[in-house]
Amino acid sequence: MKPTATPSPDAATALPLPPARRAICRRLALAAGSAALLSAGLLSTAALAADAASPVKIGFIIKQVDEPWFQDEWRHAEQAAKDKGFTLIKIAAPDGDKLLSAIDNLAAQRAQGMIVCAPDVKLGPALQARARQANLKLISVDDRLVNGASKPIEAIAHVGISAGAIGAQVGEALLAEVKKRGWKLAEVGALRVTYDQLSTSKERTDGSSAVLTQAGLPAANIVSAPMPKADTENAFNAATVALTQNPKFKQWLVFGPNDEAVLGGVRASEGKGFKAASVIGVGIGGSQSAVNEFSKAEPTGFVATVMLSPRKHGYDTAVAMFEWIKNGKEPPKLTLTSGTLADRANFKQMRTSLGL
Ligand code: GLA
Repeated sequence: MKPTATPSPDAATALPLPPARRAICRRLALAAGSAALLSAGLLSTAALAADAASPVKIGFIIKQVDEPWFQDEWRHAEQAAKDKGFTLIKIAAPDGDKLLSAIDNLAAQRAQGMIVCAPDVKLGPALQARARQANLKLISVDDRLVNGASKPIEAIAHVGISAGAIGAQVGEALLAEVKKRGWKLAEVGALRVTYDQLSTSKERTDGSSAVLTQAGLPAANIVSAPMPKADTENAFNAATVALTQNPKFKQWLVFGPNDEAVLGGVRASEGKGFKAASVIGVGIGGSQSAVNEFSKAEPTGFVATVMLSPRKHGYDTAVAMFEWIKNGKEPPKLTLTSGTLADRANFKQMRTSLGL
């Protein structure tokens, strides 16, 4: 369907955004305009919103399909679809263009709702406008959407983790291991692998840093390694640079926003010749990346992870969306989930007790 009229300006077009993102927002707004025409009966009625008796279809859009966390989220959402009898449409959207086609695709399939972990949270206003016009209920998951002033869009229901508290749990776990090994905080380097453009990531690493410095780690010992993208390869590259530039530290703590980032940091330390006995890494997530690491015959520097609940993010969020569509029950505006520390010795038991 092609828009036949210029859509009115909205929040999306008013944003001070770089050209590529502006183009995506403009396309989102155009699509929103065509949906408005549809609902006004000016275009084919075929794509009109489904009536209440229609089978429920829910889109679940994620940003990073190769990350086990997101596969787990999808798996649990699929279980919800089976249990409640709705159709789950899983779409990977690693960039704004893919996000745009994903929404068009959902509208064309007459889905009534979408759960989104967006590849760029700044697309929030455009996404919100498009969802409204296409009559798609919207819940964000994992990464909270922000407005033009980079503030959370509070009107959009969100399910995320208690990022600062979970980062603090990482800090406590690092300190416990420091104590166990009898290291002196004044001599230890702390490799903070960061992805500060995303607030849930920044809050996590800030939470860990705060606990470490409060315990006496000199702030100057914290070395940041910013990643352009939060995955193991980018973390590895960023961490290798940081370690190379700081040869004075012979023992390292490694933390970051997720397991993948910490694994990249630990792999980089190995690449620089550090043995597991000189490295303490604690991740966040507890998905397959951590399971694989804990399953290695020889322990590595990756000693623990704060396990999150993909069931709460996947299953519960999908059920909340279903209830909203089917019974008009609005989800809470903000749900924050907690984490549970697991190490090599107890992760299997922890996963079972969390129903994973
Ligand atoms: C963000 C991170 C993911 C995962 C989720 C959990 O999206 O990028 O790795 O930790 O949060 O909510």
